[in-house]
Amino acid sequence: MSIYRSLNLILLGPPGSGKGTQAKVLSEKYHIPHVSTGDMLRDEVRRGTGLGRQAKAIMDRGELVPDEIVGSMILHRLDKEDCARGVILDGYPRNVAQAGVLDGILAELGRTLERVIVIDVDDEEIVRRLGGRRSCPKCGRVYHLVFNPPRDGKTCDDCGVALVQRDDDREDVIRERLRLYHQKTAPLIELYEKRGLIVTIDGSQPVEGVTGSIIDALGSPLSA
Ligand code: AP5
Repeated sequence: MSIYRSLNLILLGPPGSGKGTQAKVLSEKYHIPHVSTGDMLRDEVRRGTGLGRQAKAIMDRGELVPDEIVGSMILHRLDKEDCARGVILDGYPRNVAQAGVLDGILAELGRTLERVIVIDVDDEEIVRRLGGRRSCPKCGRVYHLVFNPPRDGKTCDDCGVALVQRDDDREDVIRERLRLYHQKTAPLIELYEKRGLIVTIDGSQPVEGVTGSIIDALGSPLSA
């Protein structure tokens, strides 16, 4: 029997810890959407919207986009019908103010946060991982040149499109993102620890090992 009526999860962890990779698998397993503020912002950039133009320079420096912009994006996304049974939040919240906004949104929608999964990976491994990350500009699938390469080494297995490197995956920008993670995002671990929501997973395992640990920690999936 399922222990959850709905499953609202936050994936927390440093840049490159594998949040997006795991969210994709969990989304398919639990049939709940993967909501990534990073993906939403990159989509705005790709479409050349005003918001995208404003966000691009900030993202390229590895800094955080203003709270009001991401808060409003999250509010509209969580209000959609497909989020009614739960959601996997990746990249949101990112500071204490955003956590407060999320509490308000969930309360307004009559939903609760079931778990906060912390994917723990040390900084040097992060730099190594992000240097080798490539993604498909069409479907967003994420690869790694060494740990998770596409079949032919350069194009997406699903779309056949040439893979690209993210503009913020340069070493100086990665180090700035890590600095901000430790300063602004890591304090959320203590905040959610006090609410008894934290589950910490060893993110240095291979991808499948991390997935297995998360599923074990979550227990029974949602009932159909
Ligand atoms: P965002 O897109 O959220 O970036 P991030 O948090 O820095 O995380 P990443 O997407 O870089 O990494 P990931 O943990 O998803 O790892 P992945 O699975 O790809 O944000 C980008 C920017 O947008 C921010 O800097 C900010 O400017 C802005 N932004 C976003 N949200 C915001 C917010 N709420 N507020 C303000 N601004 C916001 O994996 C990484 C690599 O490792 C891949 O190549 C993968 O194949 C590989 N890999 C994954 N798992 C493993 C494993 N177990 N072993 C070996 N390799 C692995």
